[in-house]
Formats: sequence, C-alpha cells, structure tokens
Amino acid sequence: MGSPFIFTSGPDGSGLAKIAGSLSAMRRRIRTFVPLALVALASAGCGETTKSVATSECSSGTRWIGDDAESPEMHPGMDCIGCHAAKGEGPRFTIAGTVYGGPNAGDDCFGLGGITVRLVGADGVATELATNGAGTFFTGRAVKAPYTAELVRAGSVVAKMQTPQSSGACNGCHRPEGTPGRILAP
Ligand code: HEC
Ligand code: HEC
Repeated sequence: MGSPFIFTSGPDGSGLAKIAGSLSAMRRRIRTFVPLALVALASAGCGETTKSVATSECSSGTRWIGDDAESPEMHPGMDCIGCHAAKGEGPRFTIAGTVYGGPNAGDDCFGLGGITVRLVGADGVATELATNGAGTFFTGRAVKAPYTAELVRAGSVVAKMQTPQSSGACNGCHRPEGTPGRILAP
C-alpha cells in the first residue's frame, strides 16, 4: 500500500509550501470547530440553572436549580459572602443580598429585579446597586460601616432600614422565616 501523502518537492520547495499551507488551514478549521462544539453543549439543555415553579412555592415563579454554577443569579436569598468565604471560591463581595417582592421567598427563589438598593456609608458616601433578574445585588466596593439602606423604585423610596448595620451579608440577617424576614419591596 502506498502512502496517501506522496508528493514531489520541486527544486523551489513549492511542494513543502503546499503541505504547510494545508496544515495551517486544518488548524484554522480545528480552531473554529472547538468553540462551536462548546456552544452546542451549552444549549443542549444539560446546563439548566433555573426552572418555572408555582407562585405558592416562589412568588416570582422562578427557582434557581443550578447549584454552585457560577452566575450573578446563583442561589438568590442565600448568604453569598459567607459561602464564597467558606469555599474559598467566587468573588469577594463587601455587600450582597436579594430583594423580594412577595412572601414565598425561600432560599433559591428568585426575587425582584428593577429595584435600586441605596446604601449610605458612615462617611456619607452613597452606593447604588441595581437588582438583577434574580433580585440580587452585590458589590466589591468598600462601604464604610455602619451604613444605612433603602430601596428605591422608579425614583421613590419604598422601604428603609431603621437601624444602620455593619455586616454586608444582607441575606445572613434577612432570612425567609422570623424577623426581620426578607428584604421586601412593597
Ligand atoms: C452555597 C455556596 C454559594 C452561595 C450561597 C453563593 N455562591 Fe456564588 N459561587 C459559589 C462558588 C463555589 C463559585 C465558584 C464556581 C466556579 O468557579 O465554578 C461561585 C461563583 C460566583 C460568581 C462567579 C464569578 C465569576 O468568576 O464569574 C458570582 C458572580 C457569584 N458566585 C455570585 C453569587 C451571589 C450574588 C450570591 C448570593 C445571592 C452567591 N454567589 C451565593 C458558591 C456560592
Ligand atoms: C445584622 C442584621 C442585618 C443586616 C446585616 C441587614 N439588615 Fe436590613 N434589617 C434588619 C432588621 C432587624 C430590620 C428591621 C428593623 C429595621 O428597620 O431596622 C431590617 C430592615 C431592613 C429594611 C426595611 C424592611 C424591608 O424589608 O423593606 C430594608 C430595606 C433592609 N433592611 C435592607 C437591608 C440591606 C440592603 C442590607 C445589606 C446591605 C441589610 N438590610 C442588612 C437587619 C439587618
């Protein structure tokens, strides 16, 4: 059996140039194939991170089912700062929490987007954070303790924390059960 790669190099080396050319074309094809394969995997449904649920389970109708998949919408309602520190993974936030719009707000229930969380540090510096689709807000910026917190919707203050606080782990105090309960935007 003869080799399929028989070629004769001309005195000018043109045969070698042709081989080198087709090798780099092959490499280009591999480079474009790999990202496409990753996109196909991601959209195949094996990476679902949320699901629709009854409003009696989560008032928002959406629950996080992605476990620790890294996402700004991961584990709404849970203590972001505490878990990232314990696992030594995920970003180091100074402030993180979740705003809810209704009563059924257990851990992993999505909260309310479109709310501005306005914090004013002990030094008078204001920090405004927008809630994302999960109702979650966070920052790595320093906020001088103790800080005040209020919720703003369409330019109006809809809720305000009466006592200034020093921990930035809002969801650590604002649990679904007991007092003070979740951070609620009426
Ligand atoms: C039970 C543990 C746990 C909780 C609770 C948790 N996280 Fe994470 N988070 C992780 C881990 C672990 C990673 C790293 C995942 C990885 O690298 O694959 C991570 C990564 C992230 C990332 C990815 C950063 C990047 O590199 O892209 C973001 C953003 C994030 N978390 C936000 C949050 C927010 C906001 C909350 C709270 C509402 C939260 N997490 C709650 C465990 C947690
Ligand atoms: C150490 C516990 C603690 C921490 C941390 C904490 N809170 Fe509170 N929060 C409370 C308590 C207790 C109340 C009810 C009494 C009051 O208003 O001071 C409250 C009330 C509120 C209210 C008014 C009631 C409501 O739900 O609308 C808002 C808004 C609020 N907190 C936002 C925040 C935000 C935002 C953070 C994080 C930046 C935060 N809280 C961190 C304990 C805490």
